[in-house]
Amino acid sequence: MHRPRVYVTRQIFPDALDLIEKSAGLEVWPDDEPPTPEKLQEALADVDGALINVMDRIDVPLLDAAPNLKVLSQVAVGLDNIDLPEATKRGILVGYTPGVLAKATADLAFALLLAAARRVVESDKWVREGNWKISHHPMFWLGSEVNGSTLGIIGLGGIGLETAKRGLGFDMKIIYHSRTRKPDLEAEYGFEYAEPDRVLAESDFLSLHVPLTPETHHYIGEKQLKKMKPTAILVNMSRGPVVDTGALYKALTKGWIAGAGLDVFDPEPIPADHPILRLDNVVVLPHIGSASIRSRREMCLLAARNLLAGLKGERLEQCANPELYESLGI
Ligand code: NAP
Ligand code: GLV
Repeated sequence: MHRPRVYVTRQIFPDALDLIEKSAGLEVWPDDEPPTPEKLQEALADVDGALINVMDRIDVPLLDAAPNLKVLSQVAVGLDNIDLPEATKRGILVGYTPGVLAKATADLAFALLLAAARRVVESDKWVREGNWKISHHPMFWLGSEVNGSTLGIIGLGGIGLETAKRGLGFDMKIIYHSRTRKPDLEAEYGFEYAEPDRVLAESDFLSLHVPLTPETHHYIGEKQLKKMKPTAILVNMSRGPVVDTGALYKALTKGWIAGAGLDVFDPEPIPADHPILRLDNVVVLPHIGSASIRSRREMCLLAARNLLAGLKGERLEQCANPELYESLGI
């Protein structure tokens, strides 16, 4: 019987690798640095399945070079690195990992929100640099009050909802815009739906949770930033290009908004000498939204199960192109 061949493009949790190895011949990219597009093409040239990372670009040249691929299993929920229509056209199932990472990612969105509001990173640095000479002063280190303020959510999906729920714990008013209105969630949690301009104008904190698509590219640009409150803080946990970085830099330096918490950048990784990294009113993280041990392990295991299901010709637990099931007869 044909033993399928699989390529895994990063080191992942060992129990996920063990699971794959029970049913498939396995090769793993050994380095922390990602494979170049050429190396990735070589690696996938004669495999039946691949377990891939958000930074692996799956485009037409790559798919042309991998004629045996039956399944691509992404260890992430965002799919903007994959030419999904092209994979679907070729009958390649695409797995991904929504849900299992939503709570951990929302936790970190809230960490960014709190850190930017209460100047956590800025004051930590100040203390470590030996600047703390006066023990307490009523007018020092003032920040924005989180409780009782208005949290705007753009994209009320898995992570947006979890972030909004955390806001309720801080007695925040939740106002949201999403592609589809969610009357059930409005009734259950008291969220208020609004058009984007109203969300921009009324939010004290604006948290972005849309996928990166042609419609959401530069969703937040100069025009949108000018509509926000000068006291507002922007949190981006989605993808870097959802925000126009140049416009954001302008907004932060000209006082159109008060601050930002960013887990994602454009480009990524952001160069160490990028001017935005010199701003004290910005808190930055290196794209680690889902990086809790529990969530990352669950993501790896789910991705391994998706991969094996695709190799066996079965339905995936989480499939981004289930429209293929009918033509594949599964
Ligand atoms: P999800 O459940 O699919 O939620 C995305 C939401 O955005 C959906 O509710 C969706 O549509 C809405 N939406 C899509 N296009 C829109 C548009 N043009 N305008 C307004 N709303 C739009 O996905 P998720 O699990 O919450 O993840 C969201 C994104 O977060 C991922 O795609 C990924 O890029 C990013 N992410 C980042 C990290 C990190 O480490 N920083 C971790 C995980 C995910 P409906 O309103 O129709 O439902
Ligand atoms: C991470 O960025 C993800 O999309 O899961």
